[in-house]
Amino acid sequence: MVRGGRDILSSVVASQDDVHRKYGGVVPELASREHLRRIVPVVREALERARLDFGGIEAIGVTRGPGLIGSLLVGYTYGQTLAAALGKPLVPVNHLEGHVHAVFLEAQQGRESAGGGAAGGAGAAAGRALPELPAVCLIVSGGHTVLYEVRAANGHVAAPAPAEYPAFRCTYARIGATRDDAAGEAYDKVAKLLALGYPGGPVMDQLAAHGNPEAVSFTPPHTRGNPFDFSFSGIKTAVLRHVQQHPAFKGGIAVRQEALRGGARRAADLLSMCTRATLDLVASFQRAVVSDLVHRTIAAAEERAARCVLVSGGVAANSELRGTFAREASARALPVFFPSRALSTDNAAMIAAAAYPRLLAGEIASNGIGAEANLPLA
Ligand code: KG4
Ligand code: ZN
Repeated sequence: MVRGGRDILSSVVASQDDVHRKYGGVVPELASREHLRRIVPVVREALERARLDFGGIEAIGVTRGPGLIGSLLVGYTYGQTLAAALGKPLVPVNHLEGHVHAVFLEAQQGRESAGGGAAGGAGAAAGRALPELPAVCLIVSGGHTVLYEVRAANGHVAAPAPAEYPAFRCTYARIGATRDDAAGEAYDKVAKLLALGYPGGPVMDQLAAHGNPEAVSFTPPHTRGNPFDFSFSGIKTAVLRHVQQHPAFKGGIAVRQEALRGGARRAADLLSMCTRATLDLVASFQRAVVSDLVHRTIAAAEERAARCVLVSGGVAANSELRGTFAREASARALPVFFPSRALSTDNAAMIAAAAYPRLLAGEIASNGIGAEANLPLA
């Protein structure tokens, strides 16, 4: 539940990690079944935590796409039905626009209320700086790795006043995207290969701190035709080849597989079961992925003369990614903004925040519009 596009009254996330863990990746059929099972209690809990009842809802933001069609249909149909029952507007939102708004939402937390913010350009007000536009946004998760140029709609000039932020309507131009695996998907596949559990990112993030990131070198991905496209399947395959060429990895993989079956989850549990070679491989993989993400994003920001960089999506929780962006961007006087870790991974607050400017602009769903698996961001 989000008030006025900026105050998070409650944020409830129903993780499906336990359901998909034994498969090492999301199983679409199980995902939609889980959505169906959890959607009603999750909405009820969000209302309870916000101390509201259904009558307190002004409008309903709902993800229209992109994503897995079964899960989208469950959410969309529920939102549509609730809106009809309450007689409230339904605002369809692009999932990726939600990730962009997660950054705006985060930047507004802890500031004065919308009407009371200091006057002047973004970043000039007391409290945290606000992102100025145009921005380049990297959305990096298990399903996406994509770069967008984010501009103000309606010819709005670069820096909206702080009070304008929640109502801020943006337009998006795609600069580049992964040609194969998303970065989070590569993390999850490498974690499966090395028996480090699911999802792979958070555990590998912690294990990487114990290894030498320069121990194994990977050929940087080439994306001929568009330097702002990504490709991670080559790095993933190189990890596989490295493991196959060094039979010593086998023993550790078997030990960890057994531990995972016994319920081991945390990096601290797996650390003692990892050899130096394994930790070095994890650290080197992470270095290769992170430096590719950071360098292409900063190059895109420079090419588009962006005023800042926004980074969002599950992989934006990665500590090396955050550290490297902060270092590289500050060396170029380019501000970089992340959501909190909780707002980086998929959540409903970012969808509500993205819905708010569209609600104000009257972009309400007409009856025929439904979920779309491949919805482009426009
Ligand atoms: O955005 P998200 O919650 O869901 C979608 O994929 O849409 O992102 C989940 C992805 C998973 O692939 C997970 O391994 C990755 O984000 N992830 C991380 C970290 N935390 C989550 N990857 C690297 N480092 C992390 N700390
Ligand atoms: Zn997402």
